Amino acid sequence: MMATRAQQRPQAARSQAAPPERAEPVRSGEQARDFEFTSADFARIRDLIHRSAGISLSDHKRDMAYSRLARRLRARGLETFKQYLDLIEAENDPAEWEAFTNALTTNLTAFFREAHHFPILAEFVPRRAQPVSVWCSAASTGEEPYSIAMTLIEALGDSGARQATVLATDIDTQVLAKAEAGMYQFDQVKHLSPERLKRFFLKGTGAHAGMVKVRPEVRAMVRFEQLNLTDRDYQLRSQFDAIFCRNVMIYFDKPTQAQVLARFEPLMKSGGLLFAGHSENFTYVTQAFKLRGQTVYELTRDAGTARTPVRATSHAGSATTSGVTA
Ligand SMILES: C[S@@+](CC[C@H](N)C(=O)[O-])C[C@H]1O[C@@H](n2cnc3c(N)ncnc32)[C@H](O)[C@@H]1O
Repeated sequence: MMATRAQQRPQAARSQAAPPERAEPVRSGEQARDFEFTSADFARIRDLIHRSAGISLSDHKRDMAYSRLARRLRARGLETFKQYLDLIEAENDPAEWEAFTNALTTNLTAFFREAHHFPILAEFVPRRAQPVSVWCSAASTGEEPYSIAMTLIEALGDSGARQATVLATDIDTQVLAKAEAGMYQFDQVKHLSPERLKRFFLKGTGAHAGMVKVRPEVRAMVRFEQLNLTDRDYQLRSQFDAIFCRNVMIYFDKPTQAQVLARFEPLMKSGGLLFAGHSENFTYVTQAFKLRGQTVYELTRDAGTARTPVRATSHAGSATTSGVTA
């Protein structure tokens, strides 16, 4: 089972968040809407998701917010967004906050996405003191942490990689559940080399035809946990050789990015690498990491004092699924 953390919720959100209500429902495009959704509702949603997850929703995400949260209104039998937002803040129910956050994250990812990073990782890890540990901090549905684990196996060999660990975290519990299952459509891996397909995946049969499953030895290297990058304390007590933080900082404003990078710093071993997404530039946000090239940053200082280990959690590799064979 994936470990979850108590989420830090925004406090007194309603009083600070609610600007004056506009009476008329917002209608953008030709979309017919089942629920009243005002500009004030959207402003409130933006404020809540910014304070709970650091995500800055731009104006053009209005329709996305409507359609994703409309499901929550249906599930709760509500008629207006105001009712829903009042409820979420009044109840302060962790399960509803989780559903709200899950609904508003964007989870696009792929195996070996931004492929130039993986040879850099492969070249880096054999030079490090073993065992190496890598943190994938916005793991989404698992393609990225599994690509990291596969790269470690290719670079360190089966026995070297068995000692290595990949911590995979995300704020979104729904994507983490999918990640932990390790099952994907064949289409999602068809661009991989035949060698990688054979070495790292099992092919689905019967009810699972057209699917693949990440092999247990790869899944066993990856531990999944929920973690909100905007939390003050990540409760991580070990350091990492590399941190992947790709395509999530683009949703954060500059002050939030700076806070996250400041929290990464003590979690990085000396000479550790930080991998960023293709459109993310931390050069003007922090002095602790300097750009090495190709959106890879290197820690500029010696690592801080050693910390105690990360608390133990279950391993993804223990899950089994029938109907999947080599
Ligand atoms: C676009 S995906 C990127 C996935 C992967 N890193 C990649 O580059 O392919 C962004 C991920 O960041 C996660 N995320 C958003 N806000 C977060 C936060 N405050 N803490 C942790 N993860 C967050 C989302 O749930 C989503 O899965």
